[in-house]
Formats: sequence, C-alpha cells, structure tokens
Amino acid sequence: MKSQRIAIAGGTGRIGRHIVEGLLEIKHRYSLEIIVLSRSQSPHISYAGTSAPVLPIDYQDLSSIQKILNDFQIDTVISTLSGTTSDPFITSQENLLRAALSVPSIRRFAPSEFSVNSEQVPSVELYQMKIPIIRSLRQVKQERPDFEYSLFSCGVFMNYLGYGNNKPEGHKAHGYMPHFPYIFDLSKRSADIPGDGEKQLVYTRAEDVGKFVAAATQLEAWEEYNEMAGDVLTMNEIVRLCEDVCGTKFDVKYNSREVILARLGPPEKVMENFFAEFLLALMDGECDVKRPINLNGLVDVKPMTVRQYLEQWWG
Ligand SMILES: NC(=O)c1ccc[n+]([C@@H]2O[C@H](COP(=O)([O-])OP(=O)(O)OC[C@H]3O[C@@H](n4cnc5c(N)ncnc54)[C@H](OP(=O)(O)O)[C@@H]3O)[C@@H](O)[C@H]2O)c1
Repeated sequence: MKSQRIAIAGGTGRIGRHIVEGLLEIKHRYSLEIIVLSRSQSPHISYAGTSAPVLPIDYQDLSSIQKILNDFQIDTVISTLSGTTSDPFITSQENLLRAALSVPSIRRFAPSEFSVNSEQVPSVELYQMKIPIIRSLRQVKQERPDFEYSLFSCGVFMNYLGYGNNKPEGHKAHGYMPHFPYIFDLSKRSADIPGDGEKQLVYTRAEDVGKFVAAATQLEAWEEYNEMAGDVLTMNEIVRLCEDVCGTKFDVKYNSREVILARLGPPEKVMENFFAEFLLALMDGECDVKRPINLNGLVDVKPMTVRQYLEQWWG
C-alpha cells in the first residue's frame, strides 16, 4: 500500500531537506501529509507552494516520538539522521523504530542510508553504525511480514562536482550539500583517483535523490533495496567527461593503496578517515554496482546524468 502520512526524521538536514522538498512537490497530487522530526524547534519547511511542519522530538524519549507518530497517524518513517559517532546515532534510529512499531498506523521504515549500501563497504568505519538498524529491520520483517523497509542507495551526491564553479548562482550546484571537492576538483582541473580509475562510481544529484525517494513512497510495495543512480561510470570515464566539458586536460593523480593508507589519522579524525576509507572502498570495487538499479525503472524520475550536470555548471 502506498505511503500517505510520512515523517522525515532529520528532514531539516541536507539530504533530508531534499527528500522533504521531493515530497512537498508531490504532496497535493497524492494528498500526502508530511511532517519533519527535529531535536530542536525550527520553522516549517516550505517548498512548491506548500509546507511541512517541523515537530520537536527527543530521540531518547520513546513516548514523545510515539505520541507524534500516533497523533499524525504516520504510516511511513524515513530517517535521514546523521552523526560522526555511533552513539547517539544508533540509539536514535533504534528508538525511532521501536516507537514507530508501537504505533498501529506504521507500515514502512527507511533507515538513513543514502550513499553506497553500508553493508557493501566494510572498509568504511563510519558506515558500520548504519548496520544495527538494518539487522533490527530484518528481525521485525520476520515477525511482521506486512511491515516494509527499504535501503535507499544512490552512491555519491553528484553535487560535489560543482565545487568552485563560477556560474551566476553557482552555489545552487551544491543543493543543500556542503561545498568541497571529492576526488574531482574541477576548479583546479585535477583528479585524485584511488587505484587505476577503472572502478565504478555511482553518482546521483541530491535533488534527484529527493525526487526518487518521494516517488518511491507512492509504490504499492517496497523492495528491500531501492537502488537509484543518475549515472554509473568508472572514475576514468568521469575524468574524460570533465576534460571534454572543460575543454582541457586534467592533472590526474592515480594513488596506490599505500598513499591512501598514509592519509589515515588517529580515530578522532573521523571525517578525514572516512574520506580515505571511502577511497579504499572504491579502489577495492566495494562501491561497484552490486544489484540492479531498480528504482530508476520503478518510478518516473529522469535524473540528471554526469554530463548534463557538468554542462550545466562547467559548460
Ligand atoms: N551519498 C553521499 O554523497 C552522502 C553525503 C553526505 C551524507 N550522506 C548520507 O546521508 C545521510 C544524512 O546525511 P546528511 O549529511 O544529510 O545529514 P546532516 O544534515 O548532517 O544531519 C541530518 C539531521 O540529522 C539530525 N541529527 C544529527 N545528529 C543526530 C543525532 N546524533 N541524533 C539524532 N539526530 C541527529 C539533525 O537534525 P535535527 O538537528 O533537526 O534533529 C540533522 O539535521 C547519512 O546517512 C549520510 O551518510 C550521503
């Protein structure tokens, strides 16, 4: 059964806000009720001539989560929570699920994935904290076969390719994502590639992720994996596209495992380590496409390709 009353936990954040906007875009067409859950009081989110209220909750207090989900008769919870330490990230998602399960209207739950499927990248330490909720969801599914969950995967956000562009309104290239380059720095016409560049990279623009997830709520049934992609290319293919659109050769550095391992720091350097570990995962083919990109075929969303994105911001 399609989702009707949807709560986005962390919807004031980056990808969360794109998903909220994707839902607001289709809200009237499908008569949806959209609410956003946040740890703080925030103004409602307005988009496409409509809005979603932001409701304060405490992820440590199951009854407060339960009350909101119950008051709004929520049927679908989409978590877009984030964190750099496993606690409170794991307990927040787990409490969200536990509270949701005690609400009679609940039928669907999507944990915070929205990258490469976390079970597929054992080298990426930060993503290991996303795995306990997947185990819990599988357990719930065994006990309640009518309950649905889905792991939404989209690869890396294409928006990082927009870093440093100097188009008018060039900041819009980033959507709500932070501004920094990753692997490809088009402003410097350079690339920092793990290995020989022949491994795949899945890219999806964050705005398109929002549209895909919103459209997926209107599917009659959810598969365990909802894989989406704007493009699937090898890193060398992306270099060639960048060179073609920018009209110049790039300075491409191919990094050995030793070079990338040397970038790892002490455990407290969480993000630096994450970026290096993700390069290792790419190098080892952990981020290669492992399953069909099913969501592209299930919904009517036409995502931007890497060439289209590059032409918009660098052409
Ligand atoms: N594919 C990619 O390239 C890519 C890039 C970045 C992120 N991601 C993934 O997307 C997901 C969301 O990341 P994001 O960057 O969009 O997140 P974010 O904006 O950093 O955070 C999302 C929201 O989570 C809530 N939050 C933060 N810490 C929390 C905690 N400890 N407990 C409960 N809530 C907390 C906050 O909402 P309130 O303060 O309103 O409660 C925050 O606005 C993650 O799974 C991340 O791995 C993917």
